[in-house]
Amino acid sequence: MSLPIPNQIQEKFTQKYGTQPVIVRSPGRINLIGEHTDYNEGFVLPAAIDKAIYFGFAKNGLDRCRVCSLDYQEEASFSLDEIQPGGGWITFIKGIVATLIQDGHPVQGFDCIFGGDIPIGAGLSSSAALENGVGFGLNALFALGIDRLDLVKISLKAEHEFAGVKCGIMDMFASMMGKQDSAIRLDCRSLEYEYFPVNLGDCQFLLCDTQVSHSLADSAYNTRREECQTGVDILQQHYPEINSLRDAGIYQLAHIKDLLPGKVYHRCAYVIQENQRLFAACDALENGKLENFGRLLYASHEGLSKSYEVSCTELDFLVEQTESMDFVLGARMMGGGFGGCTLNLIKKQEKETFIAEISASYLREFGRSPKFYEVQIEDGTSICE
Ligand code: GLA
Repeated sequence: MSLPIPNQIQEKFTQKYGTQPVIVRSPGRINLIGEHTDYNEGFVLPAAIDKAIYFGFAKNGLDRCRVCSLDYQEEASFSLDEIQPGGGWITFIKGIVATLIQDGHPVQGFDCIFGGDIPIGAGLSSSAALENGVGFGLNALFALGIDRLDLVKISLKAEHEFAGVKCGIMDMFASMMGKQDSAIRLDCRSLEYEYFPVNLGDCQFLLCDTQVSHSLADSAYNTRREECQTGVDILQQHYPEINSLRDAGIYQLAHIKDLLPGKVYHRCAYVIQENQRLFAACDALENGKLENFGRLLYASHEGLSKSYEVSCTELDFLVEQTESMDFVLGARMMGGGFGGCTLNLIKKQEKETFIAEISASYLREFGRSPKFYEVQIEDGTSICE
């Protein structure tokens, strides 16, 4: 059996650099409900998971950062004097270092080795985990005194300016602020948040990975943001108090429907309804009404697929397959869309049946197998003792 990842990093670090690293764990995330609501100043309900990236960090006394990825078996280094975005995994690390320096933090040269078990491209926010882990590790190493919320904002800024994806704040917030066995209801406008215990009784979540990631994802994501903004601009002419879709009601939207171009009405209607579903889902969770919670997952998928149009054939297929399974309470696509995973709420004892039936039908339909991940809800980014 191979060593746990943090131990592998420790060992490799001392071999390679001859120093003792600080070890950091930074998790991926799931989102229970509230999709594409974060950049509309709405609400989300994510949680950090037991799949994570682990890092070793130590000062190197140079003006360079030397980084080694265990999983890609690649190395890269860059000078602190000139940090340019490039491509690949190193961009995320450069993004954090550059942002820290821009914000006036005294970052010096360091060595870093990292590796993890978050499936890449599955929509579990491996890039947010990477960014958070680097920010958190350098904050500890150089005693920068940055609090968690500011570290989240640094990750977001790095993602926007270095990686070029105009994502919302959900992924980095969930990875940094996660709490074992709880989901986080985050108000993406005020950044106030509340933990909701997730007690699933005889049920569990199971992720099913389509194994597809469509290349249009980033451009379509940015288009959705623009469509929502178009909706807000027009709504605002009639209702000046509306500053984001978070402020709009479905009746106000219906009132100006004829003035909205093309698909904008459907995009906005989805966001308004998804925010409402999120509150209903929190109620269901608090009161142990998992059947209701499950139905809300299906309704969320319907909206994401038909109105917001960020699903794809494979995701729709996976969700449809579960509709006739009486041991599945709910299912939906999760994250940005166009590939990645579905989130399924199923009866624990039927897990094997679920996997067997879904695998067989997916293989018949698409000629390849999906992957399944069981996830536990864990704490956010932290130092490993
Ligand atoms: C991606 C983005 C998040 C969020 C989701 C959709 O994961 O990074 O900010 O917008 O899509 O809910």
